[in-house]
Amino acid sequence: MADLGVRCAGLELRNPFLLASGIWGETGASLAGAWRAGAGGVITKSIGAGPRPGYPNPTVETYERWGMLNAMGLPNPGMEGYRAEIAAALASGATVIGSVFAGDADGFADLARRMGAAGVHALELNLSCPHAEGFGTEVGSDPADVEAIVRAVRAATDLPVIAKITPNSADPAALAAAAERGGAAAVSAINTLRGLAIDVRLRRPILAHGLGGLSGAAIKPVGLACVWQIAERVSVPVIGVGGIRSAEDALEYVMAGATAVEVGTAVAFEGIDVFGRLASGLSRLLDDLGIPSARAAIGSARSSAVPTETRRNAPPGSP
Ligand code: DHB
Repeated sequence: MADLGVRCAGLELRNPFLLASGIWGETGASLAGAWRAGAGGVITKSIGAGPRPGYPNPTVETYERWGMLNAMGLPNPGMEGYRAEIAAALASGATVIGSVFAGDADGFADLARRMGAAGVHALELNLSCPHAEGFGTEVGSDPADVEAIVRAVRAATDLPVIAKITPNSADPAALAAAAERGGAAAVSAINTLRGLAIDVRLRRPILAHGLGGLSGAAIKPVGLACVWQIAERVSVPVIGVGGIRSAEDALEYVMAGATAVEVGTAVAFEGIDVFGRLASGLSRLLDDLGIPSARAAIGSARSSAVPTETRRNAPPGSP
């Protein structure tokens, strides 16, 4: 059986499949459930300094099997209110990554300290929620801001820092490179794509907030392209996110250069047992392909890579 263990952001993961932030992470019990279902690690909801109720309903619109649009508004109980949930998740033996959001570098640094005190194994910085005023892409779209935030967090804690990069930018790889300069131990890409749905009978947006974030199968090619370009620019591990619902999807990300992957929308659609299916499916797939381990597959589509332009423009019959 192929070895699924990977080392990412200073963490030894039993397999590359992480529970993505924002899904199934409301409570310590749900995080522990994801771990028991086979996740290689779990990422909490994005937690802020104080409680936030989030946006009014409707907050979610689903599209058949190909995607989901959501604007929750970063609802969370605040760091103090969430502390017991982290303790419960840790008690299950799970590898726990604390996701945090803030409006500036000092706010991120403060939350990083408090997450560290709560005992998490690593941090993921939400620099990429596509629609929350004052947070996410509003603080994560300029490389200088990204570098300063990661640097401030590094100065505040010894925990490994993962910067979650937005795809809603002209050059996501430049943001990843800035995170690496600031001292990130890894970057995750991508967060959701900004999207909109309209109810034509009501003549207004379906989500109460209007704009939302698109996730699921529809965004997989976008996530893959970002991972591909980011892996070219940084030497820290890349965590691939976006539309992973099968072992083959995950292996695409790994071959594009990802060391680990996050799974979110597939959990919402299929339930938490998706982690067991993904891990056993990846083992089988690697065996079938004669690849001894997940590690051995990382970036393996890159070495033989010929730019698509070159292939397309090559005259017929050329090698
Ligand atoms: C929300 C946060 C995100 O980071 C995201 O990608 C989508 C939605 C939210 O809380 O609304």
